Amino acid sequence: MNFSKTLIAWYLQNKRSLPWRETTNPYFIWLSEIILQQTRVAQGKPYYEAFLQRFPTVQDLAFATEEEVLKLWQGLGYYSRARNLHATAKYIVTELQGKFPNTYTDLLSLKGVGEYTAAAIASFAYNEPVAVVDGNVFRVLARIYGLESDIAQATTKKEFQKLAQELLPIDKAALFNQAIMEFGALQCVPKNPDCTICVFQSSCYAYQKKRVDELPFKSKKIKISHRYFYYLVLRDAANHFVMLKREEKGIWHNLYEFTLLEYDQKPLLKEMVSHIQEQYPVKEIIVKNEKELLHKLSHQHLHIHFIEVVLNTKIENAISLERALQLPMPIVIHNFIASNYL
Ligand code: ADE
Repeated sequence: MNFSKTLIAWYLQNKRSLPWRETTNPYFIWLSEIILQQTRVAQGKPYYEAFLQRFPTVQDLAFATEEEVLKLWQGLGYYSRARNLHATAKYIVTELQGKFPNTYTDLLSLKGVGEYTAAAIASFAYNEPVAVVDGNVFRVLARIYGLESDIAQATTKKEFQKLAQELLPIDKAALFNQAIMEFGALQCVPKNPDCTICVFQSSCYAYQKKRVDELPFKSKKIKISHRYFYYLVLRDAANHFVMLKREEKGIWHNLYEFTLLEYDQKPLLKEMVSHIQEQYPVKEIIVKNEKELLHKLSHQHLHIHFIEVVLNTKIENAISLERALQLPMPIVIHNFIASNYL
């Protein structure tokens, strides 16, 4: 079987037309790859377009405030991507005279750029022959070549990397890398792929052995932690709201939120109400959602409640709704404001 010939022929027939495939500008490609990490094309594409509209060059991005970058990123999740994107833009402009690194090795030194992203940029922008290995590539190679190693194990990556590198035609790096990812995204999908129309049907190990559902093999299931978030929506006598910048490392770092009471299990509402009454000059307490909002992240489930606390007095740092809406915030909080106060 000539894997790469068959794969590239399939790609040229079946590929989606996507804006970042029409360019070799490393800034555009970098931006698209950061956005597309852990994000589907359909969700990421409007963000890619909005970023390029607002920040047409790496200089424009470097000169923005982090707050503006996070605001434009709002709703995409994994916000460290946006903070790293901004920090890296500043680094490229101030330390590298605005010149994008142009080799795999130099790209790897950028914050937020790992092996996958460095290989993607190096191949798409500069045709450097380095194979990408992402979730799609694991799946395609594990099935077609019958690789049984546990993809949850760090050492397995090397094995897949080696095979992908051997398969990559040295003069068609960009095409091959786009093709293998597209094949994983459209044809060799995780669940119920339609193998009846697959160009690799006769040579695919998993199809021949009826083991398509079992490959790739992944051992450990991630353990989900549960967090109970009670947001106190402090609303003062001037109808202003208290919004705080989240300084804690971890999720939503540097985004804005209401005053948070966090628990590791469901607290008693009664106790919480007494606590609020002791802490604040309360006029009224309104539980805005009786039923919790469940916000699922990759490793944690947030059980969220909003409790409006109407105050008798004015609060110095409280801000108007208009100002609040300019701040970057977790999408659950934005949605809460939109459906309750707009
Ligand atoms: N996911 C990550 N990178 C991609 C790309 N260049 N095209 C389509 N989907 C992707």
